[in-house]
Parts: sequence; structure tokens; C-alpha cells
Amino acid sequence: MKCVVCRGAAVIDVRRHNANFCGEHFVRHCGEQVRRAVEDFDMLQPEDRVLVAVSGGKDSLAVWDLLVELGYQADGLYIGLGIGEYSETSGGHARRFAESRGLTLLEVDLPGEYGFDVPTGAKAARRVPCSACGLSKRHLFDKAAVDGGYDVLVTGHNLDDEAAVLFGNTLRWDTDYLGRQYPVLPARNGFPKKVKPLVRLSERDMAAYCLIRGIDYLVDECPMAAGNRHLIYKDLLNDLEVRSPGAKADFYFSYLRNAADRFREDRDESVVGECSRCGSPSQGEVCAFCRLQERAVPVTFGGRT
Ligand code: AMP
Ligand code: FES
Ligand code: ZN
Ligand code: ZN
Repeated sequence: MKCVVCRGAAVIDVRRHNANFCGEHFVRHCGEQVRRAVEDFDMLQPEDRVLVAVSGGKDSLAVWDLLVELGYQADGLYIGLGIGEYSETSGGHARRFAESRGLTLLEVDLPGEYGFDVPTGAKAARRVPCSACGLSKRHLFDKAAVDGGYDVLVTGHNLDDEAAVLFGNTLRWDTDYLGRQYPVLPARNGFPKKVKPLVRLSERDMAAYCLIRGIDYLVDECPMAAGNRHLIYKDLLNDLEVRSPGAKADFYFSYLRNAADRFREDRDESVVGECSRCGSPSQGEVCAFCRLQERAVPVTFGGRT
């Protein structure tokens, strides 16, 4: 197996691109995929102050590394969600990466600063953990980006993530969610601009990238996500990809090219007042995060549900 660029020994095959790469040229290939995504979707300007949400997993550490290598001024944001040992370990990976590269990492601790953790929040709100977690993360990402004066918030969602979400939304023909699914969401109504520069790269690409770059990431999946439908969709799409290389990227990018605009028109953009508790943009008098906090804090301290 030879590298398509230099004919040296290849370390990875990317069937979707019908190409093999050596370590050096694979790293360049990933940089090029990010550069193209940024350009095609107008994600970032060279002078932007960028905030990267980092979980300590491969995707978010890789996107941070890639953006810094491409010359962007990018700080990290880690949120401690209070999911036991998983959170302690993931925070350690994010901190060590930041230290090793001399980068700035902001930290928010959900239990320490808001008085509840994700398992308690989920129990109190009778939501599945990933839903309480997603709601809290989105709120804290937005707040950190706006308070810190950042131009754009980056997440590490990759092609596998986006294709799996699209698959789920399509199965249900959830037009509101379909309308929101785009690799760039512009700043609006007090929310920061949000971008996903890894949409042209797969989960496998990102694991290989971290290995080659010596990035020590948390391999374990979140213990609360087991049995999640999203993981089932990922498995199904991976089976399809084995039989038909490129199917995943085709499904996702053809959607963006041919259909996304139609659903974006359907989107309900009719926020916005301000949450009377925290001042965040909100449809109701009190935002969903403050309502979650209101229910969860008494459970933390009183043991009630
Ligand atoms: P997930 O919701 O776990 O699929 O993660 C999607 C993206 O959200 C990751 O690629 C990160 O950019 C970001 N993210 C997830 N968990 C955290 C966390 N604890 N702190 C900061 N960012 C996170
Ligand atoms: Fe949020 Fe697991 S990381 S529920
Ligand atoms: Zn090469
Ligand atoms: Zn609020």
C-alpha cells in the first residue's frame, strides 16, 4: 500500500477518496478537508477569535489542533458535566492537550457553578441523560462564546455524526430539525455563530489523525449514551459504507446541496425575549436551562424527585 502523494509506505486507506496516505500526507489531507469545509461554507475569517468546545475526545481535540495548525487564533472550552469518572478523565485529556500546545482552555463546571450534574438533571426533568446534557452544553457553549466576545463557536461534529443525525431526522421527517441541520449557523438573536469544520472527515479519520499527531484522547464513549438511537444509526450507516464506499458522504452532502434550503425556510426563528433569570435569549419567560436548573438543584440537595 503506497501513499498517493509520495509513493512512500501508506499507513491509512481512505476508501471514500480511493486513496492511501503516509502519515505526513494524511495529516495534510485532513488539513485540506478542513480548509475546504471552512471555505465552502464560509465558516471562519482569518482574524476571527474562535472558541472550540473540547470534550477530551478525538474529534474536538483534532479540530482544535487542525485549526491552530491552519493559523486560527483558537481557545478551548471544556465543560465538566459531573458524569463521575468519565468527566474527570475527559477534563484531564483536554487540560493536558492545552498545556502541551501552550493553548488557553476555559473551563465551566456544571455542578460547581450551577449546583447540579447531568445524571441529576436528567432524573429531575425526567429526560434521557443525553437530552439534559445536550441542553446544558448548548446553553453553556453559547454563554461562554458570547461572554468571552468570541466571533464563532466550533464543535467537533464529524461526517459520521452529521450523517447519523440526518438519518434520524429523515426517518421521522422532522422538518424543524432538518431545517436546523447545517454545518454553519449564523449568529442571530443573541446566539453566537456556530460551525462544524470536520464535516468532510469521518470518525475513523479523526482516530487516525490523533494517533499520527500523538494526541492522547479519551477513547471511552460517554457511559450515559449506551443504547442511544444515534449509535444505532451510526452502525447502520457504517454497514452501508462498507458495501458502498462514499455512501455516507453522498447522503449528507447531497442533502446539503439539493434539499437543505427547502427545510431551512420552514425553520421557526421566532425567538426572542430574554430569560428573566440569566438574560440568555429565550422563547419563554425562563429559558430551558434555567428551568432544568430549577428542578435539578432541589434534587441535588434534598434527594427528592
Ligand atoms: P457530543 O454531544 O458528545 O456528540 O459532542 C459533540 C461536540 O460537542 C464535541 O465534538 C465537542 O466539540 C463538544 N463537546 C461535547 N462534550 C463537551 C464538553 N464536556 N465540554 C466541551 N465541549 C464538549
Ligand atoms: Fe452528555 Fe453523555 S456526554 S450524556
Ligand atoms: Zn506521502
Ligand atoms: Zn436562563
